[in-house]
Amino acid sequence: MSEKLRLAVFLSGSGSNFEAIAKNCAEGQIFCEVAVVVSNVPDAYGLVRAKKYGIPTIVCDHREYATRQEHEAVLRRELAAFRYDLVVLAGWMRLLSGDFIQAQYNRRLGLPGIVNIHPADTAAYQGVHGYEFAMGLTKKGPRLTETKITVHFIDAGMDTGPVIAQRVVPILPADSLDDLRSRGLQVEWELYSRVLNQIAHGRVHLADGRVRIEE
Ligand code: GRF
Repeated sequence: MSEKLRLAVFLSGSGSNFEAIAKNCAEGQIFCEVAVVVSNVPDAYGLVRAKKYGIPTIVCDHREYATRQEHEAVLRRELAAFRYDLVVLAGWMRLLSGDFIQAQYNRRLGLPGIVNIHPADTAAYQGVHGYEFAMGLTKKGPRLTETKITVHFIDAGMDTGPVIAQRVVPILPADSLDDLRSRGLQVEWELYSRVLNQIAHGRVHLADGRVRIEE
């Protein structure tokens, strides 16, 4: 790839993953550039972080629209003003429709156009509260001895798309939820940028629903 991979980062909250990516871009650690930050939550702290990095933002509050389609139509219209290659979900708390997902497909890369990071193994747990799941704090199972941070492509399901990379985070007996989350987030920050850089260098391939990475 001769040009940096241009990212549209979608967030709804704190945006610590976004900031890690923006910092790695600014420091030249990864061959990427954040073109725009999109938030569906007007007071998301991630927007404050975007301002710090001088990155343009789109704020589009889903509560102002009667349907998902209307909200996404506005999102698409506003996004059209930017040039980007990949949508990077970083704490984005809205399901995206199949139409929206298909429209993002990246022909140049031959890859789905949206990636996500999830704090648990997507094969074991989908949806919000992944760290709570790993700690046994949801009704979905006992406390685990490790969680698997997962970066994956988005398909029409919730956290069901092809897995690109996973990283194990041990859960120690004395860990509180906050302990696990803060250790896990540090792994997320590192893993997400690593994957984005691999995509930027054309090393991530997808065939028959399976991802292959050239090392
Ligand atoms: C992360 O734990 C991510 O895995 C999940 O949402 C959280 C977002 O955190 N999808 P932040 O907003 O990047 O700090």
